[in-house]
Amino acid sequence: MSTKKQKLWGGRFTGKTDPLMHFYNASLPYDSKMCKADLLGTKVYTEGLHKIGLLDVEELSLIHKGLLEIESEWSSGKFEEHPDDEDIHTANERRLGELIGTAVAGKVHTGRSRNDQVATDMRIYCREILNEKILPAVSSFIRVLINRAREEVDVLMPGYTHLQRAQPIRWSHWLSCYATYFTEDYNRLRQVVERLNQSPLGAGALAGHPYGIDRKYLAEQLGFNGIIGNSLVAVSDRDFVIEIMFWGSLFMNHISRFAEDLIIYSTAEFGFINLADAYSTGSSLMPQKKNPDSLELLRGKSGRVFGQLSGFLMTCNSIPSTYNKDLQEDKEPLFDCLTTVEHSCLIATGVISTLSVNEQAMRKALTVDMLATDLADYLVMKGIPFRETHHISGQCVALAEKLQLSGIDKLTLEQYKAIDARFESDVFDIYDFEKSVEKRNAIGGTAKVAVLRQLDNIESELNNIQLKLL
Ligand code: ARG
Repeated sequence: MSTKKQKLWGGRFTGKTDPLMHFYNASLPYDSKMCKADLLGTKVYTEGLHKIGLLDVEELSLIHKGLLEIESEWSSGKFEEHPDDEDIHTANERRLGELIGTAVAGKVHTGRSRNDQVATDMRIYCREILNEKILPAVSSFIRVLINRAREEVDVLMPGYTHLQRAQPIRWSHWLSCYATYFTEDYNRLRQVVERLNQSPLGAGALAGHPYGIDRKYLAEQLGFNGIIGNSLVAVSDRDFVIEIMFWGSLFMNHISRFAEDLIIYSTAEFGFINLADAYSTGSSLMPQKKNPDSLELLRGKSGRVFGQLSGFLMTCNSIPSTYNKDLQEDKEPLFDCLTTVEHSCLIATGVISTLSVNEQAMRKALTVDMLATDLADYLVMKGIPFRETHHISGQCVALAEKLQLSGIDKLTLEQYKAIDARFESDVFDIYDFEKSVEKRNAIGGTAKVAVLRQLDNIESELNNIQLKLL
């Protein structure tokens, strides 16, 4: 069969397509995953054509029967791709022609272009994956973090700045930190879904519909919240693809930081946590090794998602208005981003729900110098300005170091008084990590009540977002 006969746009062509060009141009190998969205779009579009008298009832029902048949072929893996199929749109239309005859199938594309078709398919597909896979995965991850934080609220650990021991915190505070980030991510993704849920269908190739199709009807039937008001925008806007990949990049950034913390905590030097075997691997050479590969991949894959975003941003840069084939380059990075994000979220959930915490090691890592701020606060309570107490506390640290004591708590009252006469015997009461975290009971702090309140707030925020209909 000649190429001319097979290509749906072959009418004006006399020469054959270069075989490498065909391969280079074809998107079917990766866009066939949108087969259902494409068939749904065609079903609704043909209803729209029927409404304006361009298809009669018999034709419409024949087309719908054919579309159902194609859908079951895709679902059962029986759909046979033709070497000349260029993309999912041409493949489905070609098959429809084979099943119901081209006399009727040939009417399906009246007033429609692959330009508004692919834009519609992409939006339907993204909406489905985000709603059915990514959002639920992020939500379960957050709930696992919250539950673990509630259960282990009494476990204390060092909090770090600059990766240096800073002040004692609760392990749950650390978990709550990430639950907060991921809840923001969840919320942000819901907004992205809301924005992308606009219909491009009925925009034609670029200039709009010549037969007065009811675009509102098409949008409603396809579950869109509205229509894109300019046909040039409708066919060429891929901002939603960029937004999803930006969302994915930011989410993976959070995942990466989360993973990095856990990698550090899992080293022998820290020994705060133990990864479950299910999420670790061994070394092919060193028998003793247990490597945190899951976490390293979570960290590493953030670069990949960010790369997909920057690659596609470059693709979009300087494209003239409306549809250009460059836009076909949206699919591979987007699909890769969606899969990577979904899998990363599932792995992160598995890691956090199965790791064990070494409470003793966390406790042992708490050193008295981490209470130097509490020492300064102690003098503040006696009416001395903080800038002064900060200095005095620093002098106590320096003296303890000079005397080679194990910590500032080992200074005698006389030594304290020699530094500042306002020290009294109750100074030793501050050397209690539990008291230190409990003192920070303002909203967002480390006190048990403050941490539990954070967790309650995150949970109710998540519940509220989920109650709001999309
Ligand atoms: N496979 C194409 C894409 O993904 C579909 C649109 C083709 N449009 C065209 N005018 N060639 O962008």
